[in-house]
Amino acid sequence: MRGAFGLFFGLSVIFTSSASFAEPTFPEWIKIQEKRSFRSLVDIYTKPADKSKGAVPASPSKKDPNYYFHWVRDAALVTEPFVAVFLNTKDETTKQAIFHWLHDYVEFSRELQGTPNKTPGFVGEPKFYVDGRAFDEPWGRPQTDGPALRTLKLIPFAMHLLDLGKDEYVRSFLFDPTSPGSGLMGGDMSYVSEAWAFPTFDLWEEVLGDHFYSLAVQRRAFLELQRLSNRMGDPALGKTYEAEAHKIEERMSAFWKADLKRIVPTLRAQWGPAKASQLDTAVILAAIHTRSGKAGAWEPSDDRVISTAHQLIKAFRALYPINQQYDRPGIAIGRYPEDTYDGVRTNSVGNPWFLTTLALAEYSYALRLSLETQEKILISDLNLGFLSSAMSGTELWVGMTLEKGEPAWNELLKGLVRVGDAFVARAGFHMNRETGAMSEQIDRHTGFMRGAEDLSWSYAAFLSAVWTRERILRPSLR
Ligand code: NOJ
Ligand code: NOJ
Repeated sequence: MRGAFGLFFGLSVIFTSSASFAEPTFPEWIKIQEKRSFRSLVDIYTKPADKSKGAVPASPSKKDPNYYFHWVRDAALVTEPFVAVFLNTKDETTKQAIFHWLHDYVEFSRELQGTPNKTPGFVGEPKFYVDGRAFDEPWGRPQTDGPALRTLKLIPFAMHLLDLGKDEYVRSFLFDPTSPGSGLMGGDMSYVSEAWAFPTFDLWEEVLGDHFYSLAVQRRAFLELQRLSNRMGDPALGKTYEAEAHKIEERMSAFWKADLKRIVPTLRAQWGPAKASQLDTAVILAAIHTRSGKAGAWEPSDDRVISTAHQLIKAFRALYPINQQYDRPGIAIGRYPEDTYDGVRTNSVGNPWFLTTLALAEYSYALRLSLETQEKILISDLNLGFLSSAMSGTELWVGMTLEKGEPAWNELLKGLVRVGDAFVARAGFHMNRETGAMSEQIDRHTGFMRGAEDLSWSYAAFLSAVWTRERILRPSLR
């Protein structure tokens, strides 16, 4: 996600709610919900008096479930929209305010890196109390995606600070090639170098093993750190990060199962619930959280990812009763079919989530953006299903080639926006109508919200999806 376009004309706009008498159109509603979502993140981050300044609570919910913790993964994903606004706003007051918020987050995170906790090496500890104390109860440890994600999502911040001539800040707080283990990013990635080849708990905090999602964010973080090292005048150091990324990429290839036509989420599982389907939206989250905007391996336009997305949609369409009501837009998507976590209890029945439903929206938009950089696309047995769902008349077949500019190509590109919009509308259908509030989950039978209220990751996922959409509609912003 690179832009917060057309949204921020200053804090006054962010903090004013738009009231109107007529029902808003879909694009109007998106704008309203953008403001509400960002506002909710600002509230969660700035309002509570009982937290450290830079702590990002996953949710204000303190009971059933207690999500009032700073989760390293969630916090990294919530930082992304703040970084996007920092990069794009023309308003100095907004820029200053956001700089201070990001700085607090950086400082808090550096403290956590040095806070003794139950994870050997400390940096892979998944969550902390919001006052910075180590969480000392049993939990799925380590979770090595978190530090990689934190570095990855701060790279655009570091790059922008260099653009502004703030090299000293970057070197002191984030990354210094002359002392590559220092700074927040240096600390994160030297930990990740040591840890990535070993088993970790997955992003759902349940299974100990090798995980596609964790490897994907670790690989991309190394590649981005290479870019930063080059930019800061140390290409030799950059090469060492590139080599690390290549090693991770070799490991990732094993997750593609040609017989199943899907990327599986986990290999060498040692502990945690078994997932017979080997289908998990984590794979799509990996593709969107690490996309570079170019076509390539594991990007949204990779046929292996397209095939996995299609299978996930089919599985969740069949699984959830609320997806059988045909007067609803789109399809509600969950984590994985065998999920038994209902938002409070583990041995229950799983539900669709906002952030996974919105992930499929972002995925469709990102696929469209990626296709726009290509001259043609070959229809294969892997992409046929998903791409056909975006067509509104023309039939596709394996072996067919669609070339840029021809009617079927245009139909496909338009259709991908329509497919994405249906997921966004579906998420919208289950939000609080008045306030735009989003919790973690959507009850699979009733469609009412469940689980942690005001989950900050849900809002970040909404912003990430609709800002990707905005880049399609306003090419000048790319
Ligand atoms: C809380 C975790 O965060 C969630 O992902 C998991 O499903 C439940 N605990 C059950 O283990
Ligand atoms: C449960 C999710 O599975 C996990 O990914 C997340 O970090 C925590 N909840 C906190 O939101």
